[in-house]
Amino acid sequence: MYNKCINPPIFAARRTASPVIAHITMEKIPLLRYIWRICRHETSCADTCIMTIHKTTEKQNVIITGVRPSANLTVANFVGSVIPLLDLQNEGRPISAFVATMHGLTDREPSEIVPNVIEVVRDYLALGLDPKKVIMFDQRAVRKEVALLKLYLERHITIARLLRVPALKDKLREGQTAEQASALLAEYPIMMAADILLQDANLVPVGKDQYAHIEATKELARAFNARYGDTLVVPEVLERNEPVNILALRGDGKMSKSKPDDAIFLTDNEETLRKKIKRAETADPGKKSEKIESLAFLGRILSPARASDIDAILTRHRAGNKVMADFKEILADIVVTFTTDFQKKRADVSTSSVQNILVDGNEIALTQAKTVLDRAEHAMRII
Ligand code: TRP
Repeated sequence: MYNKCINPPIFAARRTASPVIAHITMEKIPLLRYIWRICRHETSCADTCIMTIHKTTEKQNVIITGVRPSANLTVANFVGSVIPLLDLQNEGRPISAFVATMHGLTDREPSEIVPNVIEVVRDYLALGLDPKKVIMFDQRAVRKEVALLKLYLERHITIARLLRVPALKDKLREGQTAEQASALLAEYPIMMAADILLQDANLVPVGKDQYAHIEATKELARAFNARYGDTLVVPEVLERNEPVNILALRGDGKMSKSKPDDAIFLTDNEETLRKKIKRAETADPGKKSEKIESLAFLGRILSPARASDIDAILTRHRAGNKVMADFKEILADIVVTFTTDFQKKRADVSTSSVQNILVDGNEIALTQAKTVLDRAEHAMRII
């Protein structure tokens, strides 16, 4: 039983080296990740480790989430991606969250992407992600493993299948032609599969726009397993209630970074925010409007304590009263309070603390990725 022992650098590097750790087998890696999360910041964690090893027999579901390294989150990003993650964290689920740095190469130069890595993590920390509960890492830490597993997976998907992936079809319809689009764009789902499979993750919380990518991941894992035996964990989408879309302040469509005048950025200053909200499209007294519903939803979610104020003003609106100026003022107050608090917290997150968190997370993600890659290569008998 002990001949496949590992002595993970994770533990060797910490003051926690306990004899128990030396007896942990490859199969217990998911358990290790869990224990690590519990005792990372404890001074005497050996006992906790031992107890947890004895107590925990079930394999934990590992949730993975990737965030693209673009700077400047909007409130819509907060509602759509960050809140669901905070909910999972608060439910005590084991999560790995990583910055998808290598995916950024699909359409940008490394010099544009790399500086964003720290900033993205800083945003997530300021918004409440807790590094004691969530393993945070930078995809660059596992880039070699990603590249290799991607290569091994590529044989199990056809070019025709890749061309049917909706996100690629949309890109090709919206402007880029197949002559202009890079092969990396077409391979996006394979790299995403490698990210997920290397962490032995079984649950991926993503929005509907990413379902097709997870489908491709499942197909790839199944095809690999069918050829080489049970090796890769086949993940599932972790379905959550679809968050309500936050609409652009003016014009058609969702709020998006690509229309900055009609988006609320978490980094906007008070003056800009009040101006943007004042200009937002609303509706005549008594008229139902999707824009108002979207703004009201935003207000309630950013400040549950003021939800009743919003409801009261909307009731007056529905009854035909002219209340939009008041509504916008309440909303602006809520947004400004939220963003001011975020900006203050963000300023308190030092670069070195982000770096330390990533050093820890990278180490764990890399150990895990190496284990899976090794398993895959042995299954393939390529080494
Ligand atoms: N494609 C995801 C997005 O655009 C980011 C991502 C990359 C991801 N790799 C992943 C998400 C693995 C979940 C799991 O948002």
